[in-house]
Amino acid sequence: MLTKIAVLVSGGGTNLQALIDAQAAGKLPHGELAVVVSSNPTAYALERAKAAGIPAVVCSRKELGSQEAFEAAIGAALSEYGVRLIILAGFMSILSEDFTRRWPRRILNVHPSLIPSFCGKGMYGLKVHQAALEKGVKVTGATVHFVNEIPDGGEILLQRAVDIKQEDTPETLQRRVMEQAEWLLLPQATELVAKEIYEERENSHV
Ligand code: GAR
Repeated sequence: MLTKIAVLVSGGGTNLQALIDAQAAGKLPHGELAVVVSSNPTAYALERAKAAGIPAVVCSRKELGSQEAFEAAIGAALSEYGVRLIILAGFMSILSEDFTRRWPRRILNVHPSLIPSFCGKGMYGLKVHQAALEKGVKVTGATVHFVNEIPDGGEILLQRAVDIKQEDTPETLQRRVMEQAEWLLLPQATELVAKEIYEERENSHV
């Protein structure tokens, strides 16, 4: 049975799109994008899910009122769709230790820098690229890592470097890191772990 995958999003969803395109191109042979969960009811990522025919669920922490209710709603969606692997693709909410402990090596996140640089609490989206430019580093990149209780602290699975150009702005750098690193690494890492889960299940049935 293919590994059912949930993609958790909050915004534009270009990384979700990279996963959708990879699936359509046969590059996720051991996985199936089963559900998209958005923390933001107006995320453009929801349109992408709809266009690809993937069920989508909105779990807004603000509307649900507490972290517990928020995570319970996410958990209910994961159970409903038989999810075995969770991908954080531009998901801007922090998951509690209680949640991450229940999914060891089963949650992946894509972060737009070479961890351990420019990561941790408060470092997300454009802020990461702003910080890299302010520091004056000449190389940045993206990282896909397992998620544990430490923000951006879990085991690193894949990384790819991207050169910084003198004329870069946070926006041009963000775009290049996405094009040259994130959109390639995330589908690759997803397939790696989906395959591992698939094989684990096959072996447990012999
Ligand atoms: C991506 O650059 C992703 O790496 C980053 O937010 C962007 C989301 O874009 N995530 C983080 O900063 C998490 N710490 P997308 O919605 O178009 O995929």
